[in-house]
Amino acid sequence: MENFWEKLNKPILSMTPMAGITDSAWRQICKMWGADVVHTEFVSADALHYDSQKTLKMLEYKASEQPVVVQLFGKRVDMYPKAAKVVESLGVMGIDINFGCPAKKVAGHGGGICLLRDMDTVKKIVATTIASTNLPVSVKSRIALNNVQGKPEAGQTTVFDLIQALSDMPVKAMIIHGRTYETPFTGPVNLEILKQAKAAFKTGVFLINGSFQTIESVVSDLQYTQADGIALSRALYGQPWLFKQIRDYLNTGSYKEITWPEIKDTAIQHAHFLYENKGALGFREMRKHLLFYVKGRPDAASLRKALVSVETPEAVEKILNNLN
Ligand SMILES: Cc1cc2nc3c(=O)[nH]c(=O)nc-3n(C[C@H](O)[C@H](O)[C@H](O)COP(=O)(O)O)c2cc1C
Repeated sequence: MENFWEKLNKPILSMTPMAGITDSAWRQICKMWGADVVHTEFVSADALHYDSQKTLKMLEYKASEQPVVVQLFGKRVDMYPKAAKVVESLGVMGIDINFGCPAKKVAGHGGGICLLRDMDTVKKIVATTIASTNLPVSVKSRIALNNVQGKPEAGQTTVFDLIQALSDMPVKAMIIHGRTYETPFTGPVNLEILKQAKAAFKTGVFLINGSFQTIESVVSDLQYTQADGIALSRALYGQPWLFKQIRDYLNTGSYKEITWPEIKDTAIQHAHFLYENKGALGFREMRKHLLFYVKGRPDAASLRKALVSVETPEAVEKILNNLN
């Protein structure tokens, strides 16, 4: 299987895996607006090992989303061979492994970022996965995890330890969130560490992630770190067109503001994709996206009241088509 990461034009504009957000509908929307590669929500390697139908349902995708990368999490090495084979059989283009999640239900059980405390297991997970699939394997992590026992002088495991541990394996991409375990989602990212990590990682493309500010700052962060690309996350909520705006700015030095008709069409299209994929019950997830799409409108407060109870794409159309 070819390494699609190598074929992408740089800088690569990607989105990160986000549980509860990056489902098939969201990925289709991001792709429509110019994402070069999309990631699934993280899925448990254990669940795939045991053929969980619920997890397989989460991995349904449309051809228009490709290249799709499935992100796996889990701390048991023996779960990865079968999980990797199941993922490969789905026809997606890549497998990513999560070494960055700080959430209690993952890190609290020694998974996600807490796996960095046990680099031997990290190495085994990555080596086993690479050996079990022809798909390119990438990893996602953070710049550091503090208070690691047995490391008294620095008290820290860093992205450099991770890069060193994986240096003799053909890891095809690394996505690094420029925050630590201790400051999981707030504050600025450490661009200096990201720049040094990019220089240290030799086997594939290096993508930076975290704390999107403006289109202009994305471009200057890419220049500063010399990264091969950027993976966007929460900044995309209600504004998936950032991909096009960033690409336009990179190519021409300017970009257009989004218009209401474009916002409305995107929200309606998103609603249809979601209904098609998840049906009436799953459609309720659309409500949170709709609130983001109308954020910033002067009538947002009254609109929210109507949008939090929509049950169908047609109801969304009816509300949004009435607005200027
Ligand atoms: C709701 C939510 C769900 C997330 N789920 C995942 C996940 O499944 N896998 C993962 O690697 N990171 C996950 N993350 C972390 C993001 O991918 C990203 O690294 C983080 O939000 C930092 O980027 P930002 O500051 O641009 O949002 C999640 C973040 C949020 C807010």
